[in-house]
Amino acid sequence: MKVDILDLSFVPFITEEQIRHRIEEISALLSAKYSQEQPIFLGMLSGAFVFMSDIIRAYPHDCEVAFVKYSSYDGTQSTGTLSESLGVKEEVKDRVVILIEDIIDTGFTLSKFLPRLRSYHPKEVVVVSLLTKSTALSHDVQIDHVGFDIPDKFVVGYGLDYNGVGRNLKDIYVLSDEAE
Ligand code: IMP
Ligand code: MG
Repeated sequence: MKVDILDLSFVPFITEEQIRHRIEEISALLSAKYSQEQPIFLGMLSGAFVFMSDIIRAYPHDCEVAFVKYSSYDGTQSTGTLSESLGVKEEVKDRVVILIEDIIDTGFTLSKFLPRLRSYHPKEVVVVSLLTKSTALSHDVQIDHVGFDIPDKFVVGYGLDYNGVGRNLKDIYVLSDEAE
């Protein structure tokens, strides 16, 4: 069923159930590899907070949770500049850091953020993104686990917003003008 958010209409794209299933698969890979590490799950606010809350609860071993906040988006467009409102802390030194992203679009945000994160000397950085738009990717960035690779279309829901709205939708929706 179609949903209207501000001035745009969106149609269903990825269901809560499909997301849950994929999270279980990714979590199994992470827990097989990092069970002895007490990793820090580092969420990129704001979009990743819903994915973060599900992925940590699917992870069955000791772990810690922290957040950073950087933004590059205005409406449905990337602005090309990155602003920091909550940065990395020293606590990541010598630790396995599992970076949790909602979506990697052009890769600009990660291309700026990953060097900053590495400058704090984590033991290992693992990049997990619920979504990627691989056809839009224009920066060479590390990506280790992806929930779903999607076409270059604007999506909302499950933490992702359109101008601040739509994060509370349980499923992911795509802009209807662009839907096939
Ligand atoms: P990038 O820097 O171009 O990789 O964009 C990454 C950020 O842009 C994501 O963390 C989102 O906040 C935002 N973004 C990119 N595509 C979408 C989308 O389709 N819907 C909502 N936010 C998006
Ligand atoms: Mg974001």
